[in-house]
Amino acid sequence: MSDPVTLSKSGTIAIVEINNPPVNALGQAVREGLSDAVRQAEADPEVTAIVIIGAGRTFPAGADIKEFGRPMREPHLPEVIDRIESSTKPVVAALHGTALGGGFEIALGSHYRIALSDARVGLPEVHLGLIPGAGGTQRLPRLCGAEMALDIMFKGTPISAKVAHAAGLIDHLVEADLLGAAIAYAGELTEVRRTREETRGLADEAAFRTALGAAEQTANTRMRGQMAPLQIIACVKATLEQPFAEGRLYERNCFFECLASKQSKGMIHAFFAERASAKVPEAGRAKPRPLNSLGVVGGGTMGAGITVAALNSGLPVTMIERDDDSLKRGRANVEEVYDRLLAKGRITADHRASVMGLYTGSTDYSDLSDADMVIEAVFERLDVKRGVFAQLDKVMKPSAVLASNTSYIDIDHISSATNRPDQVLGLHFFSPANIMKLLEIVVPKGVADDVVATGFALAKRLGKVPVRAGNSTGFIGNRILGKYGMCAAHMMEDGATPYEIDAAIYAFGYPMGIHAMYDLAGLDIGWDNRKAAATTRNPDERDVQIADRICERGWFGQKTGHGFYLYPDGARIGTADPEVLAIIEAERALKGITPRAFSVEDIMERYMASMVNEACEVLREAVALKPSDIDVTFVYGYGFPRFRGGPMKYADGYGLDKMLDNIRAYETQDPVFWKPSPLLVELVAAGKTFDDLNKG
Ligand code: 3HC
Ligand code: NAI
Repeated sequence: MSDPVTLSKSGTIAIVEINNPPVNALGQAVREGLSDAVRQAEADPEVTAIVIIGAGRTFPAGADIKEFGRPMREPHLPEVIDRIESSTKPVVAALHGTALGGGFEIALGSHYRIALSDARVGLPEVHLGLIPGAGGTQRLPRLCGAEMALDIMFKGTPISAKVAHAAGLIDHLVEADLLGAAIAYAGELTEVRRTREETRGLADEAAFRTALGAAEQTANTRMRGQMAPLQIIACVKATLEQPFAEGRLYERNCFFECLASKQSKGMIHAFFAERASAKVPEAGRAKPRPLNSLGVVGGGTMGAGITVAALNSGLPVTMIERDDDSLKRGRANVEEVYDRLLAKGRITADHRASVMGLYTGSTDYSDLSDADMVIEAVFERLDVKRGVFAQLDKVMKPSAVLASNTSYIDIDHISSATNRPDQVLGLHFFSPANIMKLLEIVVPKGVADDVVATGFALAKRLGKVPVRAGNSTGFIGNRILGKYGMCAAHMMEDGATPYEIDAAIYAFGYPMGIHAMYDLAGLDIGWDNRKAAATTRNPDERDVQIADRICERGWFGQKTGHGFYLYPDGARIGTADPEVLAIIEAERALKGITPRAFSVEDIMERYMASMVNEACEVLREAVALKPSDIDVTFVYGYGFPRFRGGPMKYADGYGLDKMLDNIRAYETQDPVFWKPSPLLVELVAAGKTFDDLNKG
């Protein structure tokens, strides 16, 4: 392996190049090499200035996350950066790609910063349950003040070099030849300039404290339950109140506290789980087909959302609707998204026009004859979907990939309407499809590998997080949701109010409880499903009909102003409804159930046990390939708190033996619903965890 850090010279300028593909992560060898190279350059009498640059695609994208959890080996990054900042010769950081986390902290510790104009910089540690731990919380506010620094650290999303330049975080932008420009720039420098001595960001103390107060508000609401945001605030406050050296030490302690927490373990797990879910056997065996145009059939909620997601990625879309009026509505559904963005000033009229220029609407299926892929998003009815696929089979070119966005229907029942079932897969988007990250890629048996690979390529292009799912009713997510939804219904009938259940789920870290979520999605969807499944349902299974009673009154959730909650005057957040409580009481009375109290702990133990037990069945049937895919599904599709890593990661931390004991206790009350999954039993017997399965 070549040296991860090399030192060379161009005239009197020393060039320190970091070369640790793919993202130049700052592992131990890099830190050591960097420290040595800067020391050597400083000691070289011929050298007048030093340039630090990354080889390949990026300046370092941060600490090596794989090292976290192992004993930290010297030299530590904060000391390496202090060493750089202490240099008596000017140091220029030359940035391209994504200078993130520890990488950006190196840049902040360097005396000057030059960047390619398309570079991005940021401190994304919060997404890993961490805080910047190499001086970032101390140096950044000194340069740009608390408001911007907190925004960068709270959002964790990189900002463009142009924005960073405008804020004084980058001194020079160049369009090309970064190294040449950095050498020329370094050649002009005669003095060092240390960020730790900078005070411009601290000058307006009142504004600084106001920003801290606003951040506290965000930490306690939008980021509630998370430790890192509170630690970031404390560290930023320290820049104002403590000398640099003490603040840096304080930051270091906070960093280690976060690193030791379950939260960072959960979020780091989610980071790697997300990347692992994109690696599937089919994509290893075959290349994706070309994907330069998309057809979407149906312009309702999902069809329009999928269209927007595709247009945003630059893919031209032809939308097919059943008649002119429906097509008009379909187009309007798409335009509405851009109109809202335009009204909020997030896009320009030109941008809207250019994106809509990629859109074509039609009621004639033959307009799809050139499309590389088509996604069907018509009503959730098998006869309608089969009719659509029979038409698609007639018009689509032989190399086209055919996909259905069905929520529950067996893909084989849809694909058999064509003469090319091996070219048909499921692409299950989540609503709103232009926002939600999850894309379940449903792979029926016998589908061609390159069709699957093309599904994953589409996900990447749309910026979605793909998860491979087997062709089972409800696939991974909705199948498991069905089970814990039933568990919630049982608890409601047994004595917990929907509001108590939702409060427990919210306190756990979800953005909303399951009943609020049902109200948002529309209670009629579940009602239709229950009616459709009425003839095939197991008669021994407990049948809670509270939601049916609510639907029978025409209360379908937010869209009707009434569901489990009341939404007076179009309110987005519901209020508890005594009439719903009366319906529940009446149902209990009909069944002779005496209500009992549920604690928050009771509620969450049952909720999680039903989720994880069904997830085990999903794994046993190979509907999901590995536990971490289920984690990704729930974090990106169902609002499961990312800081808990996902349900399987959570279960490992909770203790599989304890969870199995709980299930066995519930089984004595309802043996039909609570059958321990054989996989869970096996794992407990073998003393293994889901993480062992991930590794296997
Ligand atoms: N450490 C170790 N591996 C990393 C890494 C890191 N910081 N960042 C990315 N990788 C790995 C990925 O796991 C992936 O590996 P794989 O090919 O084996 O799956 C590979 O690099 C490529 O990553 P992506 O697939 O994500 O590539 P993209 O081009 O889509 O994205 C990226 C590149 C924007 C750099 C993205 O990987 C990213 O956001 N990385 C994380 C950045 C981050 O969180 N940095 C902060 C780290 S914590 C820190 O610095 C602490 C400090 O304050 C002390
Ligand atoms: P919708 O009712 O909003 O839209 C369906 C659209 O299909 C309508 O515009 C209708 O005119 C059109 N359509 C019906 N028959 C057609 C035909 N033969 N040819 C062309 N267009 C036709 O429904 P929604 O919510 O968009 O759902 C669509 C599909 O997506 C369903 O299969 C649903 O289960 C699935 N889905 C829905 C989610 C949701 O949250 N709404 C989430 C994920 C999947």
